[in-house]
Amino acid sequence: MPATDPSLDLDFVRGLYPDPCWNWAFFENAGGSYVPESVIIRVADYMRETQVQPGANYQASAKAAERIANGQRLMAELIGAAADEVIIGPSTTMNVFVLAKALGGMFTPGDEIIVTNLDHEANIGAWRGLAGDGMGIREWPVNAETGNLEIETLDGLLGDRTRLVCFSHCSNIVGRINDAKAITQRVHDAGALVAIDGVAYAPHRSLDVKALDADFYMLSLYKLFGPHVSLLYAKRGHLEKVPGQNHFFLNDRIPLKLNPGGPNHEFTAALAGIADYFEALAGHHLDQPPNTFKARTDAVFALMTSHENALAAGFNEFLSSKPNVRQLGSDTGNSEARTPTFSFTVKGRPSAEIPPLLETDKVAIGCGNFYAPRLLAALGVGEENDRAVLRVSMAHYNTKDEVDRLIAALDEAI
Ligand SMILES: Cc1ncc(COP(=O)(O)O)c(C=O)c1O
Repeated sequence: MPATDPSLDLDFVRGLYPDPCWNWAFFENAGGSYVPESVIIRVADYMRETQVQPGANYQASAKAAERIANGQRLMAELIGAAADEVIIGPSTTMNVFVLAKALGGMFTPGDEIIVTNLDHEANIGAWRGLAGDGMGIREWPVNAETGNLEIETLDGLLGDRTRLVCFSHCSNIVGRINDAKAITQRVHDAGALVAIDGVAYAPHRSLDVKALDADFYMLSLYKLFGPHVSLLYAKRGHLEKVPGQNHFFLNDRIPLKLNPGGPNHEFTAALAGIADYFEALAGHHLDQPPNTFKARTDAVFALMTSHENALAAGFNEFLSSKPNVRQLGSDTGNSEARTPTFSFTVKGRPSAEIPPLLETDKVAIGCGNFYAPRLLAALGVGEENDRAVLRVSMAHYNTKDEVDRLIAALDEAI
């Protein structure tokens, strides 16, 4: 559904966040995004009004259960899933760990799992750990020149014993978006399942896990303007089959059976605040808001993406003009194929020395391996740069003025 005005009203957007957010030009959004007031209010309301164990009949308890279920249902809708296909856990790292333990119980020694060297370690290490149970682990490496995951390389790895392929929808380093649908189709044709890390994708594009035909899909809600919890989607049929990780008497409770213990109550309830945020943006920007929450969020994401693309283009132009800068990844200027996350090194400079130089201008960027050291090694980021990259990651609430501030400060520093 097209918006009447195709551009995001940044004053309106930023007015939905606490004022102190805007003291700094913040470009470490891939680490964790800002949280709008609507989420903060929901956490506070839950704790103020419903600070009891949910699930009993008395008023506060019934209300607490309703709030938790509502938060979970809305996040399921946001990604195109059913409410009972979504598990809210403490982090994606923990969710993958739990999933790996559960699926490990369904595989037999000699079965194979394919992992990449592109992903955040969250979607690698837990799977590699299954080698201890006799599973074969095969690596799907990126093209070392481009940083791209190539489907032709995967073809050579898929075989009769492949049970699972784990990959990311988008890299948290090079920002490139992988064709998750095509990869999933290829994996399904080979008779295996997919576990997709969507953490770096979800804050930038609308998502439909059913359209992707994903078996398992992970995202971290604290990077999607929410509180510090993460979501694991699993197809209902898989949830029915996986061994329970919770108490034995909860083995028929879907999705609760997969998660040892329950979700964080106040944060799960406060996920409704993410929905409030999208609704506020839809109400403000869309002339004729579509009928469903999912369609409204899709329309809002379209506005976000186009604003982010404009910001990214300006920054990419700057980085590309610097002869002493090496950008990682090949799709640097291709906004269709990437999110506004840029990683780069400066010739002859340890990366860690750059961010402090920007702080006097109140510009925050990231530096490190961002838990993807296998990718940095594959792309040849070495001692000269501390085995670390500089990362600028934007969100839809960043402004052109902030990007100009970033460019001016970086230009001086490098
Ligand atoms: C792409 C990607 N996957 C997974 C994770 C891990 O998420 P969590 O902190 O929820 O464990 C991160 C965190 O930065 C990430 O960027």
